[in-house]
Parts: sequence; structure tokens; C-alpha cells
Amino acid sequence: MLVGVGLGPGDPELITLKAVKTLKESYKVFAAGTLAATMVESYVKCEVLNFPMTKDEDSLNESWLENAEIIGKDAKDHLVSFACLGDPNFFSTFNKVRAIIEIKYPGIEISTVPGVSAITAFASKANVMINESFEVIDGSPILSKIVLKVREPKKLAEALKREGYGGFILVERIGMEGERVVINKMPSKSNYLSILYTTKSVVKNGGMD
Ligand SMILES: C[S@@+](CC[C@H](N)C(=O)[O-])C[C@H]1O[C@@H](n2cnc3c(N)ncnc32)[C@H](O)[C@@H]1O
Repeated sequence: MLVGVGLGPGDPELITLKAVKTLKESYKVFAAGTLAATMVESYVKCEVLNFPMTKDEDSLNESWLENAEIIGKDAKDHLVSFACLGDPNFFSTFNKVRAIIEIKYPGIEISTVPGVSAITAFASKANVMINESFEVIDGSPILSKIVLKVREPKKLAEALKREGYGGFILVERIGMEGERVVINKMPSKSNYLSILYTTKSVVKNGGMD
């Protein structure tokens, strides 16, 4: 089993209890780079994996492949963590390596422990309050949307389809009693504590769809 563990933006006090527990329970912990390793080593020993800071596609692919092989071998039979800064599901090397492991080692169960992302942590440092819709971009095309305060997901999905969106994942009451994840078949009503994710690309959610 492989778990992508988010370490938060760098402040050792912003790592979650669940992240620490997962690191401690792991047979082996791999860290994405030396900054992540420094954070992990306050709790457990780890092996540092190197990812080149380059835009060269070939070097990047080579390092993702190499590291996927290293991780996959242990994760076949043991609980293995891949620790990275921020949140592992957002713009991370974990996403890249995971995509390869899913193909090369299809039997390995993969999950993630969320971390405080730089995307939310910056607001405390910048001392800004965000109460309107906003964009997060890294220069690539905008293909996805995250909608808060969803009450009528079916109606909303119909409207989003007219904008070119196709796949829908509704996540309700995350981490609470009544938690539910609904894929594509949107219900008419949802709890106030719900988020709708939609994309113009292929829905990738670890093969649940
Ligand atoms: C590849 S993304 C990784 C994002 C990470 N997975 C997360 O959830 O925070 C790297 C970019 O995130 C931002 N970032 C990550 N950590 C940061 C930090 N501690 N302070 C400011 N920006 C940060 C920077 O824009 C950086 O170029």
C-alpha cells in the first residue's frame, strides 16, 4: 500500500497528526527532496528521492520512472509513505510518480493524507481574506473547477455541462459522520458541507469511476 503524505508548507507545526501517525506506521518512508526529508526526520528515518529541478521532459520522465520503480518494489508488500511538502494531490511529484505506479504496479492500493497546501497557507502570511471565487494557475490551461456551497448538484452539473465540463465528483461532509463521495451521477440535493469537483479532462480519482 502506498500513501502520499502531505507535510504542509514547511512550518514543522503545520504537519497534521494523521501525517505523523502514517509516517510512524510505515515500513518505509520516502521523502521528495531534502526539505521534505528534514521535516520527516523529526519523526522517523526516511530515504530521500531526488527529482531534478528542470523543465526538460526527458529528465523529468526518467526521474519519475526511476523513483516509481524504487517505491513500487516496497509498496507491493508493505505500507510505504511518500512524503512531500504541501498537499500531495496538488501540483506534486507524488501525482507524477503515482500515475506511473498505477500502470506498472496495478495491484498497489494508493491513498493520500492531505496536508496544508501553500495554496491556502499563503493567505495567513499575506494576511488576506478571500470570500469570492478565485483562480489558482501554474501556467497550464484551466481544465477544472471546484465549487463550494453546493445545494443542488444535479442542476449545477447540467449548467456546467453546457460550459464544456464533463466529469463530476461530489464530496460531502469530509471526515464527518455521513461522509459521501458521489461520482458522475449527481443527486438533486446535497448537504451544505459539500464540494463539487468537475473537469474538462478525464476524471482521475484512483480508478473509482
Ligand atoms: C509544485 S508546487 C507544489 C504545491 C504543493 N503540493 C502544495 O500543496 O503546496 C510548488 C509551488 O507551490 C508554491 N509553494 C509551495 N510551498 C510554498 C511555500 N512554503 N511558500 C510559498 N509558496 C510555496 C510555490 O508557488 C511553488 O512554486
